[in-house]
Amino acid sequence: MICLGIESTAHTFGVGIMENEEVLANITDMYIPSGGGIHPREAAEHHSRVCGNVLEEALEEADIERSDIDLVAFSKGPGLPPCLRTGAVFARSLALSLNAPIVGVNHCIAHIEIGKLKTGAVDPVTLYVSGGNTQVIALSAGKYRVFGEVLDTPVGNALDKFGREAGLEHPGGPKVEKLAKEGSKYIELPYTVKGMDMSFSGLMTEAVRKLKDERLVDVCHSLQETMFAMLTEAVERAMAHADKDEVLLTGGVAANKRLQKMLETMCEERDADFYTVPHELAGDNGAMMAWLGILKYRASGEDKLEETNFIQNWRTDDVEVEWNK
Ligand code: ATP
Ligand code: FE2
Repeated sequence: MICLGIESTAHTFGVGIMENEEVLANITDMYIPSGGGIHPREAAEHHSRVCGNVLEEALEEADIERSDIDLVAFSKGPGLPPCLRTGAVFARSLALSLNAPIVGVNHCIAHIEIGKLKTGAVDPVTLYVSGGNTQVIALSAGKYRVFGEVLDTPVGNALDKFGREAGLEHPGGPKVEKLAKEGSKYIELPYTVKGMDMSFSGLMTEAVRKLKDERLVDVCHSLQETMFAMLTEAVERAMAHADKDEVLLTGGVAANKRLQKMLETMCEERDADFYTVPHELAGDNGAMMAWLGILKYRASGEDKLEETNFIQNWRTDDVEVEWNK
């Protein structure tokens, strides 16, 4: 079965094409804000401007015709309403013109399922860390339960904000990682884990304040050490609670080598397996939508067209995970 998947929840517009377990194409085009944070309407305008070209490029890369598509999948939520609407309208019109079935899928769960497919993880605790998300998720009683999440600013967003304050180029995450390698002094920063939930805003404010008296490289080093220790603690606690012995790291921040190392060390100590999703499939992309589309379609068939409206705050644990039964 060939499924075309569309991602449009936030910055990225993506079209991915999967033929069963194989990625045939995965093309993305990212909206870059003119300054400050994301403007949802501008992002949606970007998506409608590029969607035609991204589709054509994906078809060419996959070397298939439109008529070869058996199924259309799209990101139904959670996300920014104008962006979600643009993706849903595009998916609906494509499915109608092809007379193909359509399925709407959950963005966070798509990250997990493509990660499992590509790494071989079977039943992991997933740490999903990106610009807009920080969640610790594991399958429990037929649903992906969120064991822990950020209470304020998500990791990627926090790193990007810090980067702006420190005069670094956007996105700040990779720049902080590079600078942190040259730092060595550990500066004490606020560490806030409540159960398995985390808060980063106090930590960020204090890190920005430290820039006045400390070297940038030492602040970057201390910021990473503190943040990633908090994430690692939350993941370790979730493993004990949910009784899991695998960890899957995904989302844009998964690219960070120091975060990978800390989680890997924790897993070694627990005799657990650690997996990182390859970069091209860890950030937002269309292939993960296509893969979850295939899983969902195999388990429960297509969506009715009138059920394809987006769900802005679609919670991970609202989704019945029929395909894992
Ligand atoms: P989502 O919609 O899932 O929240 P997103 O729009 O934030 O995703 P992603 O590509 O998943 O997009 O993630 C981008 C984030 O990842 C940015 O905040 C960026 O700073 C961060 N990031 C990328 N590489 C690194 C790195 N090496 N270290 C730390 N953070 C990183
Ligand atoms: Fe995402």
